[in-house]
Amino acid sequence: MSEGSSSAATPGPVRTVCVVGSGGREHALAAVLARTADVVVTPGNPGITGRSPEGHSLTSTSTSAEDLDADLFVIGPEVPLVDGLADRLRAQGKLVFGPGADGARIEGSKAFMKELLAEAGVPTARFGVFTEVGPAVEFLRSLDGPWVVKTDGLAAGKGVLVTDTLAEAEADVAAKLSGDSFGEAGQQVVIEEGLTGPECSLLVLCDGRRLAPLAPAQDFKRRDDDGGGPNTGGMGAYSPVPSVDDALVDELVAEAVAPLVEALCARGIDYRGVLYAGLMLTPSGPKVLEFNVRFGDPETQVVLPRYEGDLAALLAEVAAGALVTTPRFAPDPAVCVVLASEGYPESPRTGDPIVGLEAAGDLPGVTVFHAGTAVGADADGVVTAGGRVLGVTALGGTLKEARDRAFAGVAVISWPGMQYRSDIARLAADEAAALPTDVKVEAAR
Ligand code: AMP
Ligand code: GLY
Repeated sequence: MSEGSSSAATPGPVRTVCVVGSGGREHALAAVLARTADVVVTPGNPGITGRSPEGHSLTSTSTSAEDLDADLFVIGPEVPLVDGLADRLRAQGKLVFGPGADGARIEGSKAFMKELLAEAGVPTARFGVFTEVGPAVEFLRSLDGPWVVKTDGLAAGKGVLVTDTLAEAEADVAAKLSGDSFGEAGQQVVIEEGLTGPECSLLVLCDGRRLAPLAPAQDFKRRDDDGGGPNTGGMGAYSPVPSVDDALVDELVAEAVAPLVEALCARGIDYRGVLYAGLMLTPSGPKVLEFNVRFGDPETQVVLPRYEGDLAALLAEVAAGALVTTPRFAPDPAVCVVLASEGYPESPRTGDPIVGLEAAGDLPGVTVFHAGTAVGADADGVVTAGGRVLGVTALGGTLKEARDRAFAGVAVISWPGMQYRSDIARLAADEAAALPTDVKVEAAR
């Protein structure tokens, strides 16, 4: 069990929050937390600055979380969680949202995660774990396509190959196991049968024992329109998902998340944070593709702006092992379109000046979350500084309105080589528009 994390006590008021990370997820977390608290983000990004409409401060700092004071610490990315930052902060007596290194291993090793799922009886794709090419290729040949090859270790969402070509899967196994394509992270691989069906991301808060699902979201993993191009960290998202209603959310929590948490408890792991279930709704029922130990990105950019309560208080309850609040979400849908730099995901180009940020943020319903941005060398503009650069998020009365608003924001932003998907939420918006008006916007939980 993580040191200092086993007690449960009602948390005190949360006046200051420290968020760890620098991406669109952390910008969205900071913006929603700053409705009720002062927020400092380390290292943050150029978008996280100033004051929230409610008057709370938003600050980015290079000071490490271990040297900062706050009523609550929220760790955004998987790498510091896997590295045990939550354990180190708890050892200092701090209130932390995010699992210790023991729980974060679910994301740090896909082999560990798949073994836990199998042990807990959670529906998931048939799989094998390999360190040698020969047995791996033999297993691949025993499966019908499509074939799926994943690095065991962390690869920023890019270590997964899904292919209809057996030869490509075999070559990918050899490249990963040799360490050529993903270094140490690929020297063990998980091979899976390919599943089909719509995907859904379900973020579920866990205070060690109790679970509370957030509104479902749909992510777009491939870089190009209609699912073409390589896998990415995520090119856009929308929430709610019209096909995933409350009853299905309850079923997913009961069948996919609760058994995993029981397996964690049985190992003495006191998991306090968010469990991100990546699900595929296959013809034979929902199956888990992966579990992550953090908020999804860009999913967070469409889920949290819809949250109706006090997010700082909610996350503090989770961190304290005292989750009592049922999260509620506004019916207004949200759509996020990720703007990525030229060369993403293989070799993103950086340093391009970004035009139109302010104009986009002034449009109705639009918020531009920063991810890979930096202040330019002449200090009078923002430049690209990573693969996924911005998340243009919009809320609207319907999914179609949210989508139109997000793309209106996209239309005024530019830099050389900027790429984005033009089909984010298109099908869902069309489907929602075809429904009778009274069920057009489904109430989320
Ligand atoms: P993961 O990081 O494991 O979620 O994989 C990234 C993406 O690869 C998923 O969102 C799916 O689009 C795809 N994927 C992963 N596993 C499978 C599978 N077993 N069958 C089909 N597609 C998959
Ligand atoms: N959007 C996918 C992820 O956060 O892993």
